[in-house]
Amino acid sequence: MKKINCKTYTVHINDWEGLNTFINQGSFSSIFVIVDQNTFQFCLPLFEEKVNVPFEVILTESGEKNKNLESCKVIWDDFIKKGADRHSLCINLGGGVIGDMGGFAASTFMRGMNFIQIPTTLLSQVDASVGGKLGIDYHHLKNLVGIIKNPGAVFVFTPFLKTLPYLQLLSGFAEVIKHGLIRDAKAFEELTQIDALSQLDWEEMIYESVKIKKDITEKDPYERGERKILNFGHTLGHAIESHALSNGIDLLHGEAVAMGMIMETYLSYEKGYLTLAQTEKVKNRVIPLFGHHAEKIPSIEVLMKLMAKDKKNKSGEILFSLLETIGEGNFDQHVSLNAIEKSIEFYKA
Ligand SMILES: NC(=O)c1ccc[n+]([C@@H]2O[C@H](COP(=O)([O-])OP(=O)(O)OC[C@H]3O[C@@H](n4cnc5c(N)ncnc54)[C@H](O)[C@@H]3O)[C@@H](O)[C@H]2O)c1
Repeated sequence: MKKINCKTYTVHINDWEGLNTFINQGSFSSIFVIVDQNTFQFCLPLFEEKVNVPFEVILTESGEKNKNLESCKVIWDDFIKKGADRHSLCINLGGGVIGDMGGFAASTFMRGMNFIQIPTTLLSQVDASVGGKLGIDYHHLKNLVGIIKNPGAVFVFTPFLKTLPYLQLLSGFAEVIKHGLIRDAKAFEELTQIDALSQLDWEEMIYESVKIKKDITEKDPYERGERKILNFGHTLGHAIESHALSNGIDLLHGEAVAMGMIMETYLSYEKGYLTLAQTEKVKNRVIPLFGHHAEKIPSIEVLMKLMAKDKKNKSGEILFSLLETIGEGNFDQHVSLNAIEKSIEFYKA
């Protein structure tokens, strides 16, 4: 059992008693648990066993394609039908999709209902549930509509990871590696030398990773500066992921981020921040974990077009978050087209 105190809420790890206390002391008028089909099947039974209060279940369709306004309407309609009010509590039991969308739906219902996050994927446990970003996709653009609002609390339970498909676990692990690369060189060293994810001490690893995300997002909640370092690997990574999504190519978010991290490490080398030896080390450590997907990189023209839509851009210029060194990120970095082309070649070689 571990705890991380944030400014306005606490992240509890493996603390069922804490969850029951939070719910009982809150004097909520009613309780709603939002799930998708998978968390209904795999996570709700344990939640029901451990939490002794009556609640209503709101079931949504799983997957990124359902993180949209239609699903919000389902949630809002259920809130109305089942008598939710401002004093109700919404519990988001699921991965980043449920957390982002359930938090957004609750925060906008009656101008703000209480909500807590119970993240059930590794990605949502180490990343999405902390930092207050909530929202939905709109016109197929990721997270276009949303707000920043912190939950009442976050309760992480590592036993939920037992039913998570391996590739989803790997996807979340990419963000753990990213946290190491931008903030904790020792964690990067240790975590990239494992033979299998099963060797990991989940509770300890999640605790360390959440602390990094918490420290960065608390200093800069609205992403005016330092929070941008969390985008390392995501400028090229998102572009590759978007291309894969719209072309029916199988590629997980984490795999795309791993590719982005290797290329953006190379860009850090091109900028003079890293040595070639450091750059190659990152590549040689990341590829064995996430695979080599060179054939899934689109042409430079397509990549540039996709990156031109990146939310971090300013006045039409693509800005990267890179590595100052291993264990220290930076942001608002300009890079040349030639350097981007070379970073792709470096990844492919
Ligand atoms: N708010 C933020 O700061 C932030 C940060 C990173 C990512 N995100 C968002 O998070 C989303 C991705 O999150 P995700 O990877 O968790 O995706 P997800 O929520 O779609 O979950 C992945 C899959 O795992 C299933 N699942 C969830 N928990 C399970 C469990 N314990 N056992 C078995 N199956 C389970 C889900 O039903 C889904 O099919 C994206 O929408 C992304 O934009 C938000």
